[in-house]
Amino acid sequence: MTIREIYNLAIEMGIKTDFRGEQGVRRFLDGKKKIYEKMDEKEKSEFDRDALENPYLDSAIHNISEDKEIRKIMVGVDIDTSEILLAKQLGDIDLVIGHHPIGKSLASLSDVMHLQCDVLNYYGVPINIAEGLMREKIEEVSRGTNSPNHQKTVDGAKLLGVNLMNIHTPCDNLAARFLKLFIESKKPEIVGDLVEILKRLPEYREAMKLGVGPKIFVGSSENRCGKIALTEITGGTEGSPKLFEKMANAGIGTIVGMHLSEEGKKQAEEAHINVVIAGHISSDSLGINLFLDALEKKGIKIVSCSGLTRFSRVFEQ
Ligand SMILES: [Fe+2]
Repeated sequence: MTIREIYNLAIEMGIKTDFRGEQGVRRFLDGKKKIYEKMDEKEKSEFDRDALENPYLDSAIHNISEDKEIRKIMVGVDIDTSEILLAKQLGDIDLVIGHHPIGKSLASLSDVMHLQCDVLNYYGVPINIAEGLMREKIEEVSRGTNSPNHQKTVDGAKLLGVNLMNIHTPCDNLAARFLKLFIESKKPEIVGDLVEILKRLPEYREAMKLGVGPKIFVGSSENRCGKIALTEITGGTEGSPKLFEKMANAGIGTIVGMHLSEEGKKQAEEAHINVVIAGHISSDSLGINLFLDALEKKGIKIVSCSGLTRFSRVFEQ
């Protein structure tokens, strides 16, 4: 596969597993097209046209030094200059793939958070409330991702001639969809059962060895789950803490997530919502693994680094 083919496959898999459905993704892109068409020529020239085709601006190809057939890749959760050096040192890595946004993907992270509005709406939160509360959070994240040194890792890759991309939301979509189907098929009655079910997945079992396995952050193991929602596995980063009350009103009893802020914890407690934190890097690993399985099937060799616990499900399929 070429670098572009690998990237396109990731976007395609992300759309297929997107909670908005393919139609919802189309609607999101059509909305951007409408805004673009109303722009004057100067605004159009300054607009990133990639946004009209790619619903996941937090994922991008950052450097192609040599556009060759990709046979071996190095993949990690966070890629910085040290991993680029590592790839160079290993010597036979054709492409480095990171998960968390770097370069212009980081600057555009807030753009994918609109997805959370649809996810919340899917679980019963009225769309006007989801959009209103997410808008504040999206603007906060947008301001926060404005100041970092975005190109640091990309510059390193260019200097050393290392091919580099990052795939974020498509992998998180894969994890969210997988977890949703997995949990729904097991129908846990109480929160303790939900945690036990998650521990059956190898990524979470491995995380347990490090002390970061699935944990109940709010609620207790005897509490009944009620309606289980996966509202923040995908969609950039954690949503607004103010959403917990609205989620309770929408009939959500338990949330399975990746992380929880202190304010979020407080709000979840007040709303009597159970929160099970499946784990951050482990959940990231799950989503990355589901994507990597597709590459493995194409004969690409995978070296994992930077927190990725690689488990292949190729032979289970
Ligand atoms: Fe993550």
